[in-house]
This record gives sequence, C-alpha cells and structure tokens, in this order.
Amino acid sequence: MPERYPPSELRTTLNAAASALGIILKYMVLLPLRPGGSWAIKRFSRHVRAFAPARQARKTRIPIAAIDEVLPQTACQVPVYQQLERKGTTSYIENYYISLICAALRPQRVFEIGTFQGGTTYHIALNTPDDAVIYTLDLKPEQVSVLKYEKKDRLDEEVIHHSSGAKFEGTPLSRKIVRLWGDSATFDFSAFRGQMDLVLVDGSHEYPYARDDTAHALETIKPGGVIIWHDFDIAPGVSYALEKVARERDVYQLRDSSYAIHVAKGK
Ligand SMILES: C[S@@+](CC[C@H](N)C(=O)[O-])C[C@H]1O[C@@H](n2cnc3c(N)ncnc32)[C@H](O)[C@@H]1O
Repeated sequence: MPERYPPSELRTTLNAAASALGIILKYMVLLPLRPGGSWAIKRFSRHVRAFAPARQARKTRIPIAAIDEVLPQTACQVPVYQQLERKGTTSYIENYYISLICAALRPQRVFEIGTFQGGTTYHIALNTPDDAVIYTLDLKPEQVSVLKYEKKDRLDEEVIHHSSGAKFEGTPLSRKIVRLWGDSATFDFSAFRGQMDLVLVDGSHEYPYARDDTAHALETIKPGGVIIWHDFDIAPGVSYALEKVARERDVYQLRDSSYAIHVAKGK
C-alpha cells in the first residue's frame, strides 16, 4: 500500500477556501443584517486586501539560517562559475554555497543523487581536494520505463532527456568523478554505507523518491558529514519528506536558496 501524504498545496488551498467562506458569511450576510451593519462591507474589503500577502507566506517550518551559522568554517574564498542555463539546475548562490561547503569540509567522498548536466558535480570537483572522489547517480532515458515508483514530476520530465554530465565530461576535473547509473530507489547503496562526507539529494522530486533518497543519504553519511537537499521549498514531495526528518534532526534552509542542510552528529 503506497504511503499517502497530504500535498501541502492542496491543504493550503482548502484552508484558504474555508477561511474565505467564513469571512464572506460573517461580513456579507450575518453582520450587515444587524442594525447599522454597513461598516461590515468595509471590513470585508480590508480582509480581501490582507489575503494576498498571507497566501505568499512560507509553507515550511524549517528555519532559515545563514551558511556560517550552520558551518562556521565557511568564511573563505572559492571559485564559482555562473550558469546561464537555469532550467532544472542550481542558482549562482547555490553553486557558491556548495563550493563554500566543499572548501570548509574538504570532503574525500561525495555522493550526489541526480546528475543532470553536472553543474553541481563540477563545482564540487572544483572545490574538493585533488584526491577526492565524487560519485554521481543518474537515470539513463531508457531506464525511465522500469522505475520503482510512478513518475509525475514535471521538473524531471523537463530534465530527464538531457546531456547528462555535459558540464564536466571532457574537463580535467572529470578524473575525480565516478558516474553511476540507475533508479535511486533500487540502486544498491550498501557499498557506500557510513562512507560519505557529503551527500546531495537532487534526484526525483516525487515524495516516495525524496523519502527513500533521504533514507539513503542518512545511511551513507559519516558522523560529522553534511547532507544537502535541493528544491526542498518548491517541490511538495521533497518538503514533506524533509518536514519528517526535521522532527528528529536539525535541518535548516540556507538563506536565499532552495538548499536545505543537515550536519550529521558525531566526530
Ligand atoms: C533536478 S535534476 C538535478 C540537477 C543537478 N544536481 C544540477 O546540479 O544541475 C534531477 C536529476 O535527477 C535524475 N533523476 C530523476 N529521477 C531519478 C531516479 N529515480 N534515480 C536516479 N536519478 C534520477 C534526472 O535524470 C536528473 O538528472
């Protein structure tokens, strides 16, 4: 039986519709019926005007933090390359954050779920020690027909038929990068258990994938290592998986980005 989850957008819409209906009943029907009740119409229009900003409120309870509040060692300089093509990939500030995290952490072993064109992989390779190894897992287009979970992810549909790894293939940095292929839900992570200094979760944004990828990230990370999730605040499946993690662990959203971060205890 697949685990159900309440899509947060639907929940937000239903809550908003219920409160709007309550306000309409109160100010348009009940109060105007009282003697001198015309003021109620003015109050109603004030509610309507207040409604728009309320709808834009943040949907997650995961706190926002500056990167140096989570990892104080990130006060350093790093090379970052602007990516002009933003569809399905990371922003300039996200590339900056991942570069800072690599420079501060100096990870020897990194695992990325979701390569796409490899913009993030490239920045990791650029900012890690020479002998670091970066494993990056992606789907081949022909593997899409044998996935464990159903895929309705619009973001993925846009990026799955791409030139996987094009941003690092053929560059000197590709010697640090190991390509892995397969569905992250059925991929065998056992050889990587407890071995990784840094894990990036940026594969499918569907909830069952985000949940399983998160479980694999928590299994493969070393004590003191760092897990990063991308798109957590814009993909409801990723947000829901992370809200569950955040009940038991410290998770933060990095300011001005779609990155969420967790530093594993220990060391
Ligand atoms: C949003 S993109 C990743 C962006 C990338 N990290 C970057 O920096 O540009 C998602 C990637 O995950 C891959 N992907 C989607 N579903 C997957 C699955 N079930 N298993 C493995 N990879 C998957 C897609 O092929 C795509 O390359």
